[in-house]
Amino acid sequence: MKKIAIIATGGTIAGSGHMGKTTNYKAGTLSVENILASIPDIKSEFDISLFPLLSVDSNEMNITHWIALKKKIDEISSEFDGIVITHGTDTIEETAYFLTLTINTDKPVVLTGAMRPATATSADGPFNLWQAIHLAGSSLSYGQGVLALFSSTIYSARDIQKISNYKIDAFEKANTALGFMKDDEIFFSSRQMKKHTTSSIFSSMDLSHLPEVDIVPYYAGADSYLLHTGAKGIVVMGTGSGNFSMKWKKEIETLQKEGKFFVRSSRVIDGIVFGDEVFDPHHIMIPSLTLSPYKARILLMLGLAYTNDLDKLKEIFVQY
Ligand code: SIN
Repeated sequence: MKKIAIIATGGTIAGSGHMGKTTNYKAGTLSVENILASIPDIKSEFDISLFPLLSVDSNEMNITHWIALKKKIDEISSEFDGIVITHGTDTIEETAYFLTLTINTDKPVVLTGAMRPATATSADGPFNLWQAIHLAGSSLSYGQGVLALFSSTIYSARDIQKISNYKIDAFEKANTALGFMKDDEIFFSSRQMKKHTTSSIFSSMDLSHLPEVDIVPYYAGADSYLLHTGAKGIVVMGTGSGNFSMKWKKEIETLQKEGKFFVRSSRVIDGIVFGDEVFDPHHIMIPSLTLSPYKARILLMLGLAYTNDLDKLKEIFVQY
Protein backbone atom coordinates (compact mmCIF):
# COMPACT_ATOMS: atom_id res chain seq x y z
CA MET A 1 0.00 0.00 0.00
CA LYS A 2 1.40 3.45 -0.96
CA LYS A 3 2.25 5.75 1.96
CA ILE A 4 0.85 9.27 1.62
CA ALA A 5 1.34 12.23 3.96
CA ILE A 6 -1.31 14.95 4.00
CA ILE A 7 -0.13 18.30 5.32
CA ALA A 8 -3.13 20.47 6.13
CA THR A 9 -2.93 24.27 6.07
CA GLY A 10 -6.63 25.34 6.00
CA GLY A 11 -8.53 27.12 3.21
CA THR A 12 -12.03 26.64 1.85
CA ILE A 13 -11.47 22.89 1.56
CA ALA A 14 -11.58 22.96 5.38
CA GLY A 15 -14.26 25.69 5.47
CA SER A 16 -17.63 25.50 7.17
CA GLY A 17 -20.77 27.60 7.02
CA HIS A 18 -24.54 27.31 6.63
CA MET A 19 -25.37 23.71 5.72
CA GLY A 20 -25.75 23.32 1.97
CA LYS A 21 -24.74 26.91 1.08
CA THR A 22 -21.62 27.80 -0.90
CA THR A 23 -21.12 31.35 0.41
CA ASN A 24 -20.72 33.14 3.78
CA TYR A 25 -18.46 30.51 5.32
CA LYS A 26 -15.24 30.60 7.31
CA ALA A 27 -12.14 29.03 5.70
CA GLY A 28 -9.78 26.74 7.63
CA THR A 29 -12.13 25.63 10.42
CA LEU A 30 -12.50 21.85 9.88
CA SER A 31 -9.78 19.25 10.30
CA VAL A 32 -8.54 17.20 7.36
CA GLU A 33 -9.88 14.07 9.16
CA ASN A 34 -13.39 15.45 8.60
CA ILE A 35 -12.77 15.79 4.87
CA LEU A 36 -11.11 12.37 4.62
CA ALA A 37 -14.12 10.85 6.39
CA SER A 38 -16.25 11.87 3.41
CA ILE A 39 -14.04 9.93 0.95
CA PRO A 40 -15.23 6.30 0.93
CA ASP A 41 -12.56 3.56 1.17
CA ILE A 42 -9.57 5.89 0.84
CA LYS A 43 -7.91 4.34 3.90
CA SER A 44 -8.19 0.86 2.40
CA GLU A 45 -6.33 2.05 -0.71
CA PHE A 46 -3.59 4.19 0.88
CA ASP A 47 -1.67 4.26 4.14
CA ILE A 48 -2.37 7.90 5.08
CA SER A 49 -0.66 9.98 7.78
CA LEU A 50 -1.98 13.42 8.67
CA PHE A 51 0.16 16.43 9.54
CA PRO A 52 -2.04 19.34 10.62
CA LEU A 53 0.45 22.21 10.19
CA LEU A 54 -1.83 25.28 9.97
CA SER A 55 -5.51 26.07 9.99
CA VAL A 56 -5.73 29.37 8.17
CA ASP A 57 -7.39 31.24 5.35
CA SER A 58 -4.58 31.30 2.77
CA ASN A 59 -4.58 35.10 2.85
CA GLU A 60 -2.79 34.69 6.19
CA MET A 61 0.07 32.74 4.58
CA ASN A 62 3.51 34.38 4.64
CA ILE A 63 7.19 33.56 4.09
CA THR A 64 7.53 32.04 7.58
CA HIS A 65 4.70 29.60 6.76
CA TRP A 66 6.29 28.74 3.40
CA ILE A 67 9.61 27.95 5.07
CA ALA A 68 7.84 25.81 7.71
CA LEU A 69 6.15 23.86 4.89
CA LYS A 70 9.43 23.41 2.99
CA LYS A 71 11.13 22.14 6.17
CA LYS A 72 8.27 19.73 6.92
CA ILE A 73 8.39 18.31 3.36
CA ASP A 74 12.18 17.89 3.47
CA GLU A 75 11.91 16.25 6.91
CA ILE A 76 9.24 13.64 6.05
CA SER A 77 9.61 13.01 2.30
CA SER A 78 11.92 9.98 2.67
CA GLU A 79 9.24 8.15 4.72
CA PHE A 80 6.42 8.58 2.15
CA ASP A 81 5.68 7.78 -1.50
CA GLY A 82 4.00 11.16 -1.94
CA ILE A 83 2.79 14.26 -0.12
CA VAL A 84 -0.51 16.14 -0.49
CA ILE A 85 -0.94 19.68 0.85
CA THR A 86 -4.44 21.06 1.42
CA HIS A 87 -4.45 24.84 0.95
CA GLY A 88 -6.71 27.82 0.33
CA THR A 89 -7.10 28.67 -3.34
CA ASP A 90 -6.40 32.41 -2.99
CA THR A 91 -2.62 32.14 -2.59
CA ILE A 92 -2.06 28.48 -3.48
CA GLU A 93 -0.12 29.51 -6.61
CA GLU A 94 2.43 31.44 -4.52
CA THR A 95 2.98 28.62 -2.00
CA ALA A 96 3.25 26.09 -4.83
CA TYR A 97 5.91 28.13 -6.68
CA PHE A 98 7.93 28.80 -3.50
CA LEU A 99 7.90 25.07 -2.72
CA THR A 100 8.85 23.90 -6.22
CA LEU A 101 11.86 26.25 -6.08
CA THR A 102 12.99 25.23 -2.60
CA ILE A 103 12.09 21.66 -1.59
CA ASN A 104 14.83 19.07 -1.71
CA THR A 105 13.00 16.00 -2.97
CA ASP A 106 11.86 14.51 -6.28
CA LYS A 107 8.96 12.69 -4.59
CA PRO A 108 5.48 13.79 -5.73
CA VAL A 109 4.13 16.82 -3.86
CA VAL A 110 0.58 17.83 -4.84
CA LEU A 111 -1.36 20.87 -3.61
CA THR A 112 -5.12 20.94 -3.71
CA GLY A 113 -8.03 22.90 -2.28
CA ALA A 114 -11.64 23.72 -3.00
CA MET A 115 -13.88 26.52 -4.13
CA ARG A 116 -16.84 25.32 -2.04
CA PRO A 117 -16.66 24.79 1.73
CA ALA A 118 -16.92 21.28 3.13
CA THR A 119 -20.46 22.02 4.37
CA ALA A 120 -21.78 23.01 0.90
CA THR A 121 -23.97 20.76 -1.22
CA SER A 122 -21.63 19.20 -3.81
CA ALA A 123 -18.50 20.41 -2.07
CA ASP A 124 -15.57 19.99 -4.48
CA GLY A 125 -12.93 19.41 -1.74
CA PRO A 126 -13.38 15.66 -1.18
CA PHE A 127 -13.12 14.82 -4.90
CA ASN A 128 -10.10 17.11 -5.37
CA LEU A 129 -8.43 15.53 -2.33
CA TRP A 130 -9.24 12.01 -3.54
CA GLN A 131 -7.65 12.76 -6.93
CA ALA A 132 -4.67 14.55 -5.32
CA ILE A 133 -3.94 11.47 -3.16
CA HIS A 134 -3.97 9.24 -6.26
CA LEU A 135 -1.74 11.71 -8.13
CA ALA A 136 0.73 11.90 -5.21
CA GLY A 137 0.79 8.10 -5.00
CA SER A 138 1.61 7.62 -8.68
CA SER A 139 5.15 7.02 -9.98
CA LEU A 140 4.11 9.14 -13.01
CA SER A 141 4.27 12.21 -10.73
CA TYR A 142 7.87 11.52 -9.64
CA GLY A 143 10.35 14.25 -10.66
CA GLN A 144 7.64 16.56 -12.07
CA GLY A 145 8.23 19.32 -9.50
CA VAL A 146 5.42 20.48 -7.24
CA LEU A 147 2.00 19.86 -8.82
CA ALA A 148 -1.49 21.19 -8.16
CA LEU A 149 -4.71 19.30 -8.77
CA PHE A 150 -8.07 20.96 -9.35
CA SER A 151 -11.22 19.73 -11.06
CA SER A 152 -9.49 16.74 -12.69
CA THR A 153 -6.75 18.99 -14.11
CA ILE A 154 -3.04 18.73 -13.26
CA TYR A 155 -1.03 21.97 -13.16
CA SER A 156 2.64 22.71 -12.55
CA ALA A 157 3.45 24.95 -9.59
CA ARG A 158 5.03 27.42 -12.02
CA ASP A 159 1.99 27.81 -14.24
CA ILE A 160 -1.03 27.47 -11.98
CA GLN A 161 -2.97 30.73 -11.64
CA LYS A 162 -6.39 31.41 -10.18
CA ILE A 163 -8.38 33.08 -12.92
CA SER A 164 -11.92 32.92 -11.53
CA ASN A 165 -13.06 33.88 -8.03
CA TYR A 166 -16.46 32.31 -8.67
CA LYS A 167 -16.29 29.17 -10.77
CA ILE A 168 -15.50 25.69 -9.45
CA ASP A 169 -12.96 25.37 -12.25
CA ALA A 170 -11.12 28.40 -10.90
CA PHE A 171 -7.71 27.64 -12.43
CA GLU A 172 -8.46 26.64 -15.99
CA LYS A 173 -6.22 28.83 -18.17
CA ALA A 174 -5.47 28.05 -21.82
CA ASN A 175 -2.51 25.75 -22.47
CA THR A 176 -1.24 25.55 -18.90
CA ALA A 177 -2.33 22.06 -17.83
CA LEU A 178 0.35 19.37 -17.56
CA GLY A 179 -2.36 16.75 -17.81
CA PHE A 180 -5.74 15.53 -16.68
CA MET A 181 -7.35 12.90 -14.48
CA LYS A 182 -10.36 10.73 -15.19
CA ASP A 183 -11.38 9.76 -11.68
CA ASP A 184 -8.16 8.10 -10.43
CA GLU A 185 -6.57 7.60 -13.88
CA ILE A 186 -3.71 9.96 -14.69
CA PHE A 187 -2.90 11.38 -18.16
CA PHE A 188 0.20 13.57 -18.29
CA SER A 189 0.52 15.32 -21.66
CA SER A 190 3.51 17.60 -20.98
CA ARG A 191 6.33 18.31 -18.53
CA GLN A 192 7.56 21.43 -16.76
CA MET A 193 10.73 22.48 -18.60
CA LYS A 194 12.00 24.93 -15.97
CA LYS A 195 14.31 23.97 -13.08
CA HIS A 196 12.71 22.90 -9.83
CA THR A 197 13.13 20.89 -6.58
CA THR A 198 16.42 18.93 -6.52
CA SER A 199 17.81 20.75 -9.60
CA SER A 200 17.04 24.17 -8.10
CA ILE A 201 19.95 26.12 -6.57
CA PHE A 202 17.50 27.33 -3.91
CA SER A 203 16.71 23.85 -2.53
CA SER A 204 19.95 23.71 -0.56
CA MET A 205 20.22 27.42 0.27
CA ASP A 206 19.79 29.08 3.68
CA LEU A 207 16.37 30.77 3.42
CA SER A 208 16.40 32.50 6.80
CA HIS A 209 17.23 35.99 5.45
CA LEU A 210 15.25 36.57 2.28
CA PRO A 211 15.38 40.20 1.11
CA GLU A 212 12.20 42.23 0.88
CA VAL A 213 10.63 42.42 -2.57
CA ASP A 214 7.44 44.38 -3.31
CA ILE A 215 5.03 44.39 -6.23
CA VAL A 216 4.07 47.86 -7.49
CA PRO A 217 1.20 48.14 -10.00
CA TYR A 218 1.25 50.77 -12.71
CA TYR A 219 -2.11 52.28 -13.71
CA ALA A 220 -3.04 55.30 -15.82
CA GLY A 221 -1.67 58.38 -14.04
CA ALA A 222 0.08 56.44 -11.25
CA ASP A 223 2.65 58.61 -9.44
CA SER A 224 6.25 57.40 -9.39
CA TYR A 225 6.46 57.92 -5.61
CA LEU A 226 4.81 54.46 -5.42
CA LEU A 227 8.18 52.99 -6.45
CA HIS A 228 9.78 54.20 -3.19
CA THR A 229 8.79 51.22 -1.06
CA GLY A 230 12.13 50.74 0.68
CA ALA A 231 12.39 47.15 -0.60
CA LYS A 232 15.60 45.92 -2.26
CA GLY A 233 13.66 44.50 -5.18
CA ILE A 234 10.54 45.71 -6.95
CA VAL A 235 8.38 43.82 -9.40
CA VAL A 236 6.69 46.44 -11.55
CA MET A 237 3.29 45.17 -12.63
CA GLY A 238 3.00 47.13 -15.87
CA THR A 239 0.25 47.30 -18.45
CA GLY A 240 0.25 45.38 -21.76
CA SER A 241 3.67 43.84 -22.35
CA GLY A 242 5.04 45.34 -19.11
CA ASN A 243 4.66 49.05 -19.86
CA PHE A 244 4.47 52.27 -17.81
CA SER A 245 5.02 56.02 -18.22
CA MET A 246 8.22 57.96 -19.03
CA LYS A 247 8.17 59.36 -15.49
CA TRP A 248 8.33 55.81 -14.08
CA LYS A 249 11.15 54.91 -16.48
CA LYS A 250 13.26 57.85 -15.23
CA GLU A 251 12.52 57.03 -11.58
CA ILE A 252 13.45 53.38 -12.11
CA GLU A 253 16.76 54.42 -13.74
CA THR A 254 17.58 56.57 -10.70
CA LEU A 255 16.62 53.90 -8.15
CA GLN A 256 18.49 51.19 -10.05
CA LYS A 257 21.71 53.28 -9.83
CA GLU A 258 21.10 53.44 -6.05
CA GLY A 259 21.22 49.60 -5.87
CA LYS A 260 17.57 48.57 -6.30
CA PHE A 261 16.59 45.69 -8.60
CA PHE A 262 13.56 45.78 -10.89
CA VAL A 263 11.55 43.09 -12.64
CA ARG A 264 9.26 44.11 -15.47
CA SER A 265 6.01 42.12 -15.48
CA SER A 266 2.45 42.62 -16.65
CA ARG A 267 -1.02 42.80 -15.19
CA VAL A 268 -2.31 40.98 -18.29
CA ILE A 269 -2.96 37.32 -17.44
CA ASP A 270 -1.91 35.82 -20.79
CA GLY A 271 1.27 36.43 -22.75
CA ILE A 272 4.96 37.04 -22.08
CA VAL A 273 7.15 40.00 -21.05
CA PHE A 274 10.41 40.00 -23.02
CA GLY A 275 13.41 42.30 -22.68
CA ASP A 276 12.88 45.33 -24.94
CA GLU A 277 15.62 47.39 -26.72
CA VAL A 278 13.39 50.44 -27.06
CA PHE A 279 11.62 50.37 -23.71
CA ASP A 280 14.69 49.43 -21.65
CA PRO A 281 17.74 50.30 -23.84
CA HIS A 282 20.25 49.88 -20.98
CA HIS A 283 18.73 46.52 -19.97
CA ILE A 284 18.42 47.50 -16.33
CA MET A 285 15.19 45.55 -15.76
CA ILE A 286 14.74 41.77 -15.51
CA PRO A 287 11.95 40.54 -17.82
CA SER A 288 9.45 38.32 -15.99
CA LEU A 289 8.82 36.27 -19.17
CA THR A 290 5.77 34.06 -18.42
CA LEU A 291 5.85 34.46 -14.62
CA SER A 292 2.97 36.34 -13.02
CA PRO A 293 4.04 39.35 -10.89
CA TYR A 294 3.30 37.29 -7.74
CA LYS A 295 5.60 34.48 -8.81
CA ALA A 296 8.23 36.92 -10.12
CA ARG A 297 8.34 38.39 -6.59
CA ILE A 298 9.14 34.98 -5.12
CA LEU A 299 11.87 34.29 -7.68
CA LEU A 300 13.43 37.76 -7.18
CA MET A 301 13.43 37.24 -3.39
CA LEU A 302 15.24 33.93 -3.74
CA GLY A 303 17.46 35.25 -6.55
CA LEU A 304 18.59 38.25 -4.49
CA ALA A 305 19.42 35.96 -1.57
CA TYR A 306 21.72 34.11 -4.01
CA THR A 307 23.33 36.95 -6.01
CA ASN A 308 23.34 40.72 -6.59
CA ASP A 309 24.64 40.33 -10.14
CA LEU A 310 22.00 41.64 -12.58
CA ASP A 311 23.07 39.36 -15.45
CA LYS A 312 22.96 36.28 -13.19
CA LEU A 313 19.49 37.31 -12.00
CA LYS A 314 18.33 37.60 -15.62
CA GLU A 315 19.67 34.10 -16.27
CA ILE A 316 17.82 32.79 -13.19
CA PHE A 317 14.58 34.21 -14.63
CA VAL A 318 15.26 32.30 -17.86
CA GLN A 319 16.05 29.04 -16.06
CA TYR A 320 13.27 29.01 -13.47
C1 SIN B 1 -8.45 30.74 1.10
O1 SIN B 1 -7.68 30.96 0.15
O2 SIN B 1 -8.06 30.26 2.18
C2 SIN B 1 -9.89 31.08 0.99
C3 SIN B 1 -10.42 30.86 -0.37
C4 SIN B 1 -10.33 29.45 -0.87
O3 SIN B 1 -9.74 28.55 -0.30
O4 SIN B 1 -10.92 29.23 -1.95
